[in-house]
Amino acid sequence: MKNYELRNGVSIPEIGYGTWKTPDGETCEKAVETAIRLGYHHIDAAMVYGNEESVGNGIKNSGIAREELFLTGKVWNSDRGYGRTIRAFEKTLKDLQTDYLDLYLIHWPASPNQYRCWEALNRETWEALTDLYKSGKVRAIGVSNFRRNHLTPLLDAEVIPMVNQLELHPGMVQADIVSLCREHQILLEAYSPLGNGKLLNSKELSEMAEHYGKTPAQICIKWNLQHGFLPLSKSVNEDRMRANLEVENFEIAEEDMRKLDVLEGFADGNDPDKVPF
Ligand SMILES: NC(=O)c1ccc[n+]([C@@H]2O[C@H](COP(=O)([O-])OP(=O)(O)OC[C@H]3O[C@@H](n4cnc5c(N)ncnc54)[C@H](OP(=O)(O)O)[C@@H]3O)[C@@H](O)[C@H]2O)c1
Repeated sequence: MKNYELRNGVSIPEIGYGTWKTPDGETCEKAVETAIRLGYHHIDAAMVYGNEESVGNGIKNSGIAREELFLTGKVWNSDRGYGRTIRAFEKTLKDLQTDYLDLYLIHWPASPNQYRCWEALNRETWEALTDLYKSGKVRAIGVSNFRRNHLTPLLDAEVIPMVNQLELHPGMVQADIVSLCREHQILLEAYSPLGNGKLLNSKELSEMAEHYGKTPAQICIKWNLQHGFLPLSKSVNEDRMRANLEVENFEIAEEDMRKLDVLEGFADGNDPDKVPF
């Protein structure tokens, strides 16, 4: 698999494997182990998914050397602030059964609708990530679900985010925050690259997939790669996991890319300033 390079020079495999909604326990352990065996060497985890220990077991059972794997964690909203973030990070390390992470993200920004001092809270959480980075416990740091108003205050920080993980898929292009991230060499990771599965029912997408002799999921993943995004797809099904990696031998034409950009009706589009969590 090819890699992207983060603004600090760290390599990151260009397709990642998601673990949200993967049931904790045996299903998750098996899924992660299988994904690694099939060639996913980049795993996207988060404390709030409630399955970090199973993800850690799956990694261990796969027998992969730790340095062959790119492992991401995220600090959840209830752990914002300096001290809580450091403690959440240590628990994540313990549950994933590792002594470092490759990438640690702020899962959602504190927003002006929730807190009067939202900007200070985001800075404090960011300072904790910065110290973890400087101490060598994490190789890269970033944010998730940050739009322009949340990201801008961090652009004059000592260390600038290296990644922003956003909902990105056909019909969800987030043009404003994408252009700000590009301006600052912040890699865009695409969560829900298959629109959480719902997108795969789109008639237009199915017709296009047939035209290319590919599956709708492969078209979504390729669309992300052609935009320079890093897709994080999730499946617990071995055949789908395998197929979702087979996107090398074709190219989506420019006019079809533009049609996919404006596909309507499949965006969750959770606004970080309005979410109730
Ligand atoms: N930072 C954030 O706030 C945030 C938010 C959401 C997600 N994420 C991350 O992004 C990852 C991916 O996003 P996601 O889980 O929302 O959704 P996704 O990858 O867009 O879609 C997953 C859904 O599609 C199905 N699927 C996968 N491959 C398929 C295929 N080839 N054909 C048919 N169906 C297929 C899966 O079912 P099966 O498992 O049954 O195959 C599952 O229901 C998450 O797991 C998580 O790591 C981050």
